[in-house]
Amino acid sequence: MVTFNILHGSIPAIGIGTWKINDLKVMLNTLKSAYDCGYRLIDTAAAYSNEIIVGKAIKTLGLKREELFIQDKLWNTFRGYTQSQEACKKSIRKLKADYLDAFLIHWPASSRNGPDWEEINFETWRGLEQLQKEGLVRYIGVCNFKPCHLKVLVESATIKPQLNQIEIHPGYPQTETVNYCRDNGILLEASSPLGNGQLLGNEILLRIAQNHNISSAQVCLRWNYERQVCSIPKSTNSTRIRQNIDIFDFSLSEEETKVLDNLPFSGGLGLDPDGVINYERLQ
Ligand code: A2P
Repeated sequence: MVTFNILHGSIPAIGIGTWKINDLKVMLNTLKSAYDCGYRLIDTAAAYSNEIIVGKAIKTLGLKREELFIQDKLWNTFRGYTQSQEACKKSIRKLKADYLDAFLIHWPASSRNGPDWEEINFETWRGLEQLQKEGLVRYIGVCNFKPCHLKVLVESATIKPQLNQIEIHPGYPQTETVNYCRDNGILLEASSPLGNGQLLGNEILLRIAQNHNISSAQVCLRWNYERQVCSIPKSTNSTRIRQNIDIFDFSLSEEETKVLDNLPFSGGLGLDPDGVINYERLQ
């Protein structure tokens, strides 16, 4: 298993995404295929409404807890010092996991949440710090935070964020956030590393893939890996699951990297964290 360093430990460079997997049988097949070809990081979220079936699948497959890196996310309606801790404990119970390897704030509060949005993020973060102090979570972090959201945590929190999961793929390099995170020792994880699948027919990616006899998905994932970005591709297909972790025996040329670095936006979600207010639907 290829990993990146994080604090005093390591995190797999590729994890399996579970967004939109809400059927136990599909979850079982997905996690079995993923485990069998070397995945150890499983990414879920309260908002995906699938923590219970992730937990059931892990148990049914007999996967050893200590071999896995289980990552979960706090939903927006549970922000705050106390609520964030309660929500995390509930997620752990649903997963039947005892502890989480990583717990991330799913979306930042932003100016659209009112003038005290920074305070809300800070209080939520204090809740995560407490969870880490109590040993319920190994690593704490955020998702979809831009430098303007991270600033208060980086400058004032006791424990700095260790991870930031944001959408990153060719055509959407998020350079400003990536550089800010690198400067502050925050490891990056890419959600939708294949641009939600929309990038895969891109002619430039296909041409680069052809040079190496690989797929355009592998080009995206290798590009992230070479930028020290961990990727969480989602697939329920065993062949594609295997392909997505088979990215460690080739490298992109300087010229290919330059082309990918400069690709215009060609697919993906491209959601602006400051605009994601309509997503507050989970109770
Ligand atoms: P499927 O589950 O049928 O494989 P992202 O991770 O960027 O959100 O992209 C997920 C989408 O990309 C899903 O629709 C998934 O479909 C598809 N996908 C994942 N891996 C591959 C691959 N290697 N080749 C083609 N499509 C893929």
